[in-house]
Amino acid sequence: MAIFGKNKKESSAPSQLPADEGLILPVHVGIIMDGNGRWAKKRGLPRKAGHREGAKTFRTITRYCSEIGIKYLTVYAFSTENWKRPEDEVGALMGLFKSYLKEAIEDFKDDDIIVRFIGDKSGFSPELQELMAENEESSAHRDGMVLNIAMNYGSRDEIVRAVKNISADVKLGKISVEDIGEQLVSDYLYTAGQPDPDLIIRPSGEYRISNFMLWQSAYTEFVIMNKLWPDFQKSDLDEAVRIYSQRNRRYGGV
Ligand code: FPP
Repeated sequence: MAIFGKNKKESSAPSQLPADEGLILPVHVGIIMDGNGRWAKKRGLPRKAGHREGAKTFRTITRYCSEIGIKYLTVYAFSTENWKRPEDEVGALMGLFKSYLKEAIEDFKDDDIIVRFIGDKSGFSPELQELMAENEESSAHRDGMVLNIAMNYGSRDEIVRAVKNISADVKLGKISVEDIGEQLVSDYLYTAGQPDPDLIIRPSGEYRISNFMLWQSAYTEFVIMNKLWPDFQKSDLDEAVRIYSQRNRRYGGV
């Protein structure tokens, strides 16, 4: 099944963001792509149909973020907890990731998008791991937006992994306990070298962080939107950016 190419979802409303609106554009946007299951249920469809639509929205919104000048986009595609879902739903998601990753290698080329995966890749099948590596390698030389796809990602798991790696490096004498500070911890996370997210968007009206970028989101602005992810359009991204732009970020100051 082609998710990209002939199945492209081009029906989203065009951007309403005028270039000269003087908006403060977030550098790094995170999106918790939530509501696929409810979208399907409302239509009497199996949950996997919601994920298929969610994948189309993902493609549209990713390209749009790159178009408007977002530098980093992190999407939450599969959490360390999502393995608890029924076997057929997990299977459908794995199938979707596989067909998508095959086509993404070509598809994101036009947009110059650098593809990265954050999360524990070893949890996936060898075929999927190979596709992830191929995506990363073939896009590494590009200089466009960095797209982090969080798969088998859990922020607590990420922090535990960082603590273990820091401890191992202390033991090996590569670093000393005195070197450990906020910057060093950030450098041991999957997102090392990237700025923290400025804006995290959660569609579907849920007010939860769901184990997503806990360390990185210390001063992130959250925007919750009452749209299910498959219904999310470019104009919703515009709205989230406008809301973000009006926020007064104080980082604990006055
Ligand atoms: C959460 O909605 C969504 C997921 C667990 C899967 C997200 C995956 C995609 C959008 C597929 C596309 C991703 C890539 C990288 C191709 P939910 O199922 O929990 O929705 P619900 O809360 O309504 O049940």
